[in-house]
Formats: sequence, structure tokens, C-alpha cells
Amino acid sequence: MTHPPQTQDDRARPASRRVVVGVSGGIAAYKAPELVRRLRERNCEVRVVLTRAAREFVAPLSLQAVSGHRVHDRLLDEDAESGMGHIELARWADDIVIAPATADLVARLAAGMADDLLTTLVLATEARIWLAPAMNRVMWDHPSVQDNLARLAERGARMLGPDSGSQACGEIGYGRMLAPEEIAERVARVDTGALEGKRFVVTAGPTHEALDPVRFLGNRSSGRMGFAVAEALREAGAAVVLVAGPVRLPTPGGVERVDVVSAEQMHEAVFAALPADGFVGVAAVADYRPADPRDRKIRKTGEPMTLELLPNPDILRDVAASSPRPFVVGFAAETEDLAERARGKLADKNLDLIAANRVGDGLGFDTSDNELEVFAAHDRWTLGRGPKPALARELVAIIAGRMTNDGDADRRKERDDA
Ligand code: PMT
Repeated sequence: MTHPPQTQDDRARPASRRVVVGVSGGIAAYKAPELVRRLRERNCEVRVVLTRAAREFVAPLSLQAVSGHRVHDRLLDEDAESGMGHIELARWADDIVIAPATADLVARLAAGMADDLLTTLVLATEARIWLAPAMNRVMWDHPSVQDNLARLAERGARMLGPDSGSQACGEIGYGRMLAPEEIAERVARVDTGALEGKRFVVTAGPTHEALDPVRFLGNRSSGRMGFAVAEALREAGAAVVLVAGPVRLPTPGGVERVDVVSAEQMHEAVFAALPADGFVGVAAVADYRPADPRDRKIRKTGEPMTLELLPNPDILRDVAASSPRPFVVGFAAETEDLAERARGKLADKNLDLIAANRVGDGLGFDTSDNELEVFAAHDRWTLGRGPKPALARELVAIIAGRMTNDGDADRRKERDDA
């Protein structure tokens, strides 16, 4: 078979990354050609591998046209030099991006099967593996799927989504494949190494403070911002412990997760995970907890009720005062006077950086987008409105910069100013 010629684009500049796009058989496979285009726009050289089921959803010829290379779908490939295309592709790839990753494919990967080209490729490669799950929301929630994904994440697979929203089946919820633009951006932008060798602890989500066995005081944090920060730190090469409040989100690939419920448990889990080079407090930690949580359900009396609340430990403040002290980043969610309040917390809690977000207007708590103003003692960065994963990567780039040269410069400036 003759290979299609390289395009003008391929010849013009050397490809920065070699990406295998693996397509499994779900309805979202129709988005694969767009993903290939988006990756190539970002200077990636792309080869496509289709499962047999994927061929029912997307035409190999379309993928050949957009990738500029013939599509691979057979385990034993007479066109490959050794007759073993999977080994050649496995060695060639820097990244293998499986989009969509169906529940069936995820199960086969988790079981370590090698019954077609794509699964064999994943076993035979040292490339980074990315999974963009796409399935019905009920399937997504199924414990088998979640267990399989957790197993793959533990082995280092990086998760791309899924997104929530309306699905091909007409239902609404988590399970929709992330947009090709977002997948391409995350794969192409992965910064391998800025934080290599560093260890981070990140908090995410809300805390729930029990009133009785069925009620709690809590807040609307979904955990998305904190999980995105953990994933971006991991992508930048750091080892990450993610201390998560009660949220329903998949663990980012390669990240160690500790689940907690209350602020006191979060405090304990964070200190058990220290020492670290960096700490990022993204969690919306409850400032107070009920003084007297009951063992039994509190009964209605018809009378007014007064709750006595006790202050919770301030995790961020305590980490910033700990020794050895990590590089400490806080978050602040504000409805007004954003800059003033954020700067106040930066100084008061003795932080290196604080990322402030406005609440409302589709931003902040339980939203997919955010907007961040990041403050250091002498600097300020505005990260305009965008998806939380994109903002998390920008924030991590600032953190990486501050932990090396810029941070030293800033500390020198602070000393000079003093
Ligand atoms: O989870 P999402 O739905 O994606 O929403 C993300 C977010 C809006 C929750 C996140 O971006 C955010 O802003 N988190 C901080 C929320 C906040 O208002 O925190 P705070 O002002 O109460 O606390 C300031 C800082 O101190 C935070 O870093 C917080 O983690 C930390 N803190 C607060 C109280 C406490 N007892 N311990 C703490 O560590």
C-alpha cells in the first residue's frame, strides 16, 4: 500500500511530538478526525489506530486524509518492516491518546488484554497513555468502570475528562467525551519536567461537617479546580498527593488520592502527606463545624434551633507555618473586593502565591470555567476566563517559575525592600 504524501505542514517544520490516536467504537468516534486536525495544528505528528468497532463509526479514509498517513487496524501488519506494526508504533509514539475510550476498551486495558492492535500497543509501549472516556452517564458511574479506570490511573494513565452535558443517548450527566480542542491542547501542552522530582500535596473539594448521621454543613465545591491543579502538577512531572473532600470525580492518572470528609480529617491527611516541596490549597474548607454532632438523627420539634459551631483548623495557615516549609499556594473565592481580600489572605496566612476567583456569573463553585487573578507579594497575573484544566496548567507554570528563578528574584526583592 502506498502511503499518502506528507502535507506541506509536515514538511515545513519538524514535528514536536509523535502521537498515536487510538479510536474505539463509540458514537464519539466521529470526533476523531477533528482531534487529529487539532493535534496537527499543534505541531504533532499523528498516526491513527482503529479498533474493529470504531470502523463502524468513522471512516478510515477520513482519518487517513486528516492524518496524512494510512490508518492502522491490524495486529499483524504485512506492510510493517518486521510484520509487527504494533512494536514499531509502540516505539515510535511519545503519546498514545485513546479517544473515545469506551467502557469495553477501558475494561480490556485494565485486564491487560492484547486481543487487537490498540490494546497490544498499550501493553508494548513506554509512551504516555491518555484516556478520553466517552459513555452513557449510568455506565460512567458503574463501579466496574470506575474500578477499571482507577486501576489504569494507578498504572500512570492520564485521564482526559469526561465532560458533563447532554449525551448522544439523550441523557444529561458525566460521560461525554472532552472536546477535541481541549484534548489536543492538554496533550500537546504537556510540560514534561518543569516540576520533575518535586512532590506536591493538593487539597480539593468541599468538606462536610456532620450534624447528625444524615445531615452536614457543606458548600458547593465540586472538586474540579483542585483535581485540575493536581493533574496539571502531575503533567509537569511532580509526584502529587491529592487530599479530596467528598466529590464524585475520577482520580487523575498517576496521582495518589486520599479521600476525606471533614476539615479535621483533611488537616490530618495533609500533615500525614507532608513534607513536600509544594502545597496548593484549593479546597473550600468549612471554617466551622457543629460543636455537638449527634449519633442519632435530630428530630423536628417545631421550636427554633440554635447551632453552636466551633472553628476548624486552618490547614493552609498551619502548612505555611510548618517546618520544613513547602512552597505554599492558597485559593480565595470572593464575591466582592477580590484583589484586596486575596492580598489580605496572602499576607495574613504567609503564602507564596494566592489564586483568587470571583464567584457567580458561571464561575467559581461547581462550574466548568473559571477566571483567576494570581497574586504574589510583588506580582500579579490575570488568567482570563477559560476551562479549569487550562487555567490549572497556567497556574502550574507560574508556580514552577516562582519555585525556581523568579521566586528567588522575588525573595531578593523582598529582602531589599525590607
Ligand atoms: O471545586 P470547584 O467547584 O471547582 O470550585 C473551586 C473553588 C471555587 C472552590 C476554588 O477555586 C476556590 O476558590 N477554593 C478556595 C475557596 C475559599 O473561599 O476558600 P477560603 O477563602 O475559605 O480559604 C482561603 C484558603 O484557605 C483556601 O486555599 C482554603 O483551601 C484554605 N483554608 C480555608 C479554611 C480552612 N479551615 N483551611 C484552609 O486550608
